[in-house]
Amino acid sequence: MAVERTLSIIKPDAVANNFIGEIYSRFEANDLRIVAAKMALLNKTQAEAFYAVHKERPFYSMLIEFMISGPVMITVLEGEDAIAKYRTLMGATMPEFAAPGTIRYDLAREGKANENAVHGSDAPETAAEEIKFFFKPEEICYRTR
Ligand code: CMP
Repeated sequence: MAVERTLSIIKPDAVANNFIGEIYSRFEANDLRIVAAKMALLNKTQAEAFYAVHKERPFYSMLIEFMISGPVMITVLEGEDAIAKYRTLMGATMPEFAAPGTIRYDLAREGKANENAVHGSDAPETAAEEIKFFFKPEEICYRTR
C-alpha cells in the first residue's frame, strides 16, 4: 500500500455540533496524519466551484446552501491507503445508509437527511485536485517527527 494524501471537509453541521475534536480523534486513532488544516466560511462561488461535478444533479442547490450555511474545517490527511481508509471511516454518503461505527452513522444520523458531516476525496486524481483547490503546496507540512 502506498502513502497517500486525501482531502477532508468537516461540514457545517458537524462543526456546529462541536464534532471537530471527535472527528480529528478518529483520524489520529486510524493513523491518518493531519498535514494541513484551516477553518473557512465558504462563499457561494467557492462551494459551486468545489462541487461543480454535481451541478446537474437535483440536490446541487441544496448542497451549496448547506455548505455555505456555516464554517467548515478543511484538512489534508496523509497515511497508508489514506483515500480508501478515510472513505471507510466516513461510511455511506447518506447517513441513513451508513454502517454503525462510521462517522456518518455516529455523528450525522440524527440531523437533516442531506447533512452528512464530512466530505472525503474519492480517488487519487480527485484528491490531488481537491487539495490544490484549498491549499498552496507550502501550506502542507512534512511530518519531520
Ligand atoms: P460529499 O461526499 O461531500 O459529495 C457530494 C455531496 O452531495 C455528498 O457528500 C452529499 O452531501 C451530497 N449528496 C449526494 N447525494 C445526495 C442526495 N441524494 N441528496 C442530497 N445531497 C446529496
